[in-house]
Amino acid sequence: MRTHYCGHVNTSDLDQEVELCGWVHHRRDHGGVIFIDLRDREGRVQVVIDPDTPESFAIAEQVRNEYVLKIVGKVRHRPEGTVNPDIPTGEIEVLCKDIEVLNASETPPIQIDDDNVNEDSRLKYRYMDLRRPEMQSNLILRAKVCKVMRSYLDDQNFMEIETPMLTRATPEGARDYLVPSRTHPGQFFALPQSPQLFKQLLMMSGMDRYYQIVRCFRDEDLRADRQPEFTQLDIETSFMEEEEIMTVMEEMVIELFDQCINVKLPQPVPRMKYDEAVKRFGTDRPDLRIPLELIDIADVLTDVEFKVFSGPANDPEGRVAAMRAPGAAELSRKVIDDYTAYVAIFGAKGLAYIKVNDRAAGRDGLQSPILKFLPDEALEAILERTGAESGDLVFFGADKARIVNEALGNLRVRLGQDLGLVDDSWQPVWITDFPMFERNDDENRWESLHHPFTAPKVDSIDDLKNDPGACLSKAYDLVLNGTEVGGGSVRIHTTEMQQTVFELLGIDEQEAEDKFGFLLNALQFGCPPHGGMAFGLDRLVMLMCGAPSIRDVIAFPKTQTAACPLTAAPTEAGERQLKELGIRLRKPPAEATENS
Ligand code: AMO
Ligand code: AMP
Repeated sequence: MRTHYCGHVNTSDLDQEVELCGWVHHRRDHGGVIFIDLRDREGRVQVVIDPDTPESFAIAEQVRNEYVLKIVGKVRHRPEGTVNPDIPTGEIEVLCKDIEVLNASETPPIQIDDDNVNEDSRLKYRYMDLRRPEMQSNLILRAKVCKVMRSYLDDQNFMEIETPMLTRATPEGARDYLVPSRTHPGQFFALPQSPQLFKQLLMMSGMDRYYQIVRCFRDEDLRADRQPEFTQLDIETSFMEEEEIMTVMEEMVIELFDQCINVKLPQPVPRMKYDEAVKRFGTDRPDLRIPLELIDIADVLTDVEFKVFSGPANDPEGRVAAMRAPGAAELSRKVIDDYTAYVAIFGAKGLAYIKVNDRAAGRDGLQSPILKFLPDEALEAILERTGAESGDLVFFGADKARIVNEALGNLRVRLGQDLGLVDDSWQPVWITDFPMFERNDDENRWESLHHPFTAPKVDSIDDLKNDPGACLSKAYDLVLNGTEVGGGSVRIHTTEMQQTVFELLGIDEQEAEDKFGFLLNALQFGCPPHGGMAFGLDRLVMLMCGAPSIRDVIAFPKTQTAACPLTAAPTEAGERQLKELGIRLRKPPAEATENS
């Protein structure tokens, strides 16, 4: 039906006849001449209909936004002064010879060129929202990213293998989505949180190198970079250690950025140990574009009278840290109050600060509600260590280390944005040497920092048992501009080690057998050393597009409450269907009480 995409017509087509199909983006009636911006996936082009073609003109007078048209016309230069350098087709226009309405459209429920439509309407009318050029280019880029991934992995001898969607729980730390089985009444499949166990079994099957672009399901609290179903590029390989895996993976990411958005990432990608990341940035996913750091100052505050500082300074689990905000001495009381409310979200009980008005004037040059509590030596040490200068402001966090890290770590990112300190570079970093376990104090037990199949960095099982808290793991995360885009590890490949880790996690023999018996069995029959990684495809593409949310790179995403306004899913199930599945619904508590 067509010879060109609208967005592809250019000066090399001058004087030629073209046939175009697309949607009416705009129609302008300039008394006597009608202009239609015709749009398709690849862009848009200006079509001119003049009264010399009365039949076409009559049709053009009737068309409205989002009508689908076929246009036959001749490409010509735009007249002097009407060239639009902002669009690729801006030098030319198509003089219409013939116009055909392929389909009409009702008045669109959302305007295609309105950037401020609320998210619910965007999702409800997603087929309209996806017509927006920005969404089209996001999905085009996403497809390209997948293509480059596949071709890179194919070149490296990885093969794509599918794993089941109806399976049993895979522990990645979220709640499962369950699917009732009709043929086994009372029993449920779980949708995979990741293909973790299957990909390990594939290594045990001798498949050597596997990948899959695969949907994963996690019922967890949603955020801008989390969806209940999202896509991973999931990878596993046999006979490679951490170093080799990270090298292959970073080469792929470097190639992706180069080929898809023409960005050269640093090679090799810098590395940072978990401890250092948390110490300097309060988080294991530091945004290295922001030049702010947490500085430890507990040692100069152990003896001060100010309990807010000396308490945590003397607590082995406490932390007292300062963060210098350059040029922030001008911040108003109100702005600082806002930051105080912000850090409270992360459990901080306050946000002490010192404004450095004149660094040379000693104590007199400083302004702060806590000045009176701090002796000269402590003040000097803090200013010295943070490198504070006149015009700067220093923030403080003092509490349990976890709270200080979260509070100042998040404040760091917020300040970076508010003070305009985030540069437009790309800052990937590998985070390595994670602790193997994290203490869950509420339940008095160890939890895996990654998943329970991650191999520890120990020489013997006894080393692991003797001091689990001190043990590091062979895990690595790839962080890009403050977003965790991927993570993986070398896996445990012996039954004894896997059993030991289960034990330390408080999974007893019976439970291990019930939940992971198949894995423990498989480990006994010649399991190769193996490891791998999974990338969050949505997050990678989001960063590449500069989109604010992964919802902007997923064709049909869910809302913040994990619903789909387009199809109105989830819905109630009919009585017959429930009966077939052997399911009787519990009434919500309120209703139940009313009826009882
Ligand atoms: P992990 O749980 O770290 O590892 O997941 C890998 C990557 O997937 C992305 N991701 C998400 N993206 C969108 N929405 C979500 N809800 C979501 N959750 C995770 C992140 C993350 O880095 N089996 C292991 C991988 C392995 O060890 O090989 C796993 O799933 O970008
Ligand atoms: P207070 O003595 O509790 O009024 O606190 C004095 C100053 O210290 C105020 O500016 C508080 O915001 C700040 N502050 C209180 N608790 C903390 C904390 N845990 N970490 C950092 N600053 C705090």
